[in-house]
Amino acid sequence: MDYQVIRKPKTEGPQPEPQLPAPGASCDGSIWQALQEELSWLPGGFLNKAHECIDRHALGPLAGKTALIWEGKNGEIETYSFADLKRESDKFANVLLSLGVEKGDRLFMFMERVPELYIAFFGALKVGAVVGPLFSAFGPDPVRDRLADSGARILLTQPALRRRIAEVLPDLPRIQHVIVANKGSRDAEPLLAGDLSYEDLMSTAPVELEIAKTNMFDHSVMHYTSGTTGKPKGAVHCHQAIIQQYATGKWVLDLHEDDVYWCTADPGWVTGTSYGILAPWSNGVTQVVYEGGFKASAWYEVIERHKVTVWYTAPTAIRMLMKAGAEVPKHYDLSSLRHILSVGEPLNPEAIMWGLPVFKQPIHDSWWQTETGAILISNYASMDIRPGSMGKPIPGIQAGILDDHYNPLPAGRDGHLAIRPGWPSMFRTYWSDPEKYNSRFRKGWYITGDRAYCDEDGYFWFLGRTDDVINTTGHLVSPFEVESMLLEHPAVAEAGVIGKPDPLAMEVVKAFVALKDGYEPSDQLRREITGFARKKMAALVAPREIEFLPSLPKTRSGKIMRRLLKARELGLPEGDTSTLEED
Ligand code: PRX
Repeated sequence: MDYQVIRKPKTEGPQPEPQLPAPGASCDGSIWQALQEELSWLPGGFLNKAHECIDRHALGPLAGKTALIWEGKNGEIETYSFADLKRESDKFANVLLSLGVEKGDRLFMFMERVPELYIAFFGALKVGAVVGPLFSAFGPDPVRDRLADSGARILLTQPALRRRIAEVLPDLPRIQHVIVANKGSRDAEPLLAGDLSYEDLMSTAPVELEIAKTNMFDHSVMHYTSGTTGKPKGAVHCHQAIIQQYATGKWVLDLHEDDVYWCTADPGWVTGTSYGILAPWSNGVTQVVYEGGFKASAWYEVIERHKVTVWYTAPTAIRMLMKAGAEVPKHYDLSSLRHILSVGEPLNPEAIMWGLPVFKQPIHDSWWQTETGAILISNYASMDIRPGSMGKPIPGIQAGILDDHYNPLPAGRDGHLAIRPGWPSMFRTYWSDPEKYNSRFRKGWYITGDRAYCDEDGYFWFLGRTDDVINTTGHLVSPFEVESMLLEHPAVAEAGVIGKPDPLAMEVVKAFVALKDGYEPSDQLRREITGFARKKMAALVAPREIEFLPSLPKTRSGKIMRRLLKARELGLPEGDTSTLEED
């Protein structure tokens, strides 16, 4: 099969013109200046994401347009216009004001994808608070760590999720209010002592609101992301990020007025906010939110039922659709689809080739990170695709490949993927860890932590990560976080965690465990540790495999050598073992 280039086929009927500026358009930053003028800003030069996404549409000709089509996991459907979202988020902002929430306070959300999440997200931004959405599949430990690190003052959650983390809430004295939204729990559940009811608060909240005068550098959204050494870090974004989220919605997602857009990511991860909230709504586009999880037939049904035109998903999801077989999609009308994209992990050429007959078009890869806040490299709609390549930097972005001394390398050479800082959606800090933030910048470049090369024609190709962070189903997992959790199990003396290559999930979490005296390896103990990990963290990040070893390879300073564990697992050369501690 020749994977050289794929040209997007001309489909029948009128197709909107791609909105991307010509490749090679100004890279000097002036392009962002021009875009700023497409946003409406608040009087006095203030900028607020909630105004750009909701209020400006609600106050203009799009007021009655459907902003959100919500499909619940039990098949219920609700629709909200831009005017509805403005009214509800204004009310929630008033709730927060009545609770004494101030500019800069952190409001975290531990919620399923229900309309209240989206309403509260904007309500919080409207009072100048910083919003931190958490992945709803997390167990108590990751939630506790993130709430403690961020010093969150308000937690918005739902009854079942509230119960899941009940044991850790007493460890979080800085949380002043827990607000519980009953949506999705069907029968109204009694509140726990001290909790506030979202529905009660909203029923008496005033509708009139004056939105906070946030400036472009005020913090707005934070997402925790995994590193190799410590617990996950909170990457903090500013209101200014909306400029690029809006721009890439236009250029890369290729959103047009009449589109129905569906992003499959959960807002607990950055794709679910930047592209599941901010990009589509800043472009005034209707979006579908599907609360249910993955099931091939249900996903095709969502596309058919809502006539989705633009679809942003992930390579693992595509591979899972492939696994479900080519027969399944034949039962659904997918002809509404006009543009398909993916993010989070390498999009393998086989997935694109599989998608060609099924979707009648190629899937477009895009590359970015929690820290970058928005897409930086992509195969955009107007461009020929080289399957397997992430594409080219979008206008306004300069990407480079650097050697180990952070000097640029020529085309074709492998190195560190780096970006010239200054793009609008760049993170502004890691919460309470400015040193870590500064360590990401070298010789005038932001160092992404990915390895890649750039071909002669300017296409970038992903090779891997430069650190031990694990990418499973497009979600980054910190080996340190998993190891720390395993060490809490009474039988575990040492733990070392690696990403093991997997054809479906890209990598799965594999743990090597040495047991304390008095414990013997057994299948039962393996199952017990797995269950412990799932309960504490999430099924996604719990080790898929656990291997017992008498002891783990360590450096003389006592650091577990994950690199060596991985080399041994994969049967690769062990490399430099001179620092290995002798047993
Ligand atoms: O290693 C790259 C991989 O995911 C990392 C960023 O993960 P996160 O901060 O969780 O954000 C994910 C969604 C934006 C990157 O450093 N990654 C992301 N997109 C791609 C990718 N790897 C290969 N190809 C991609 N298109």
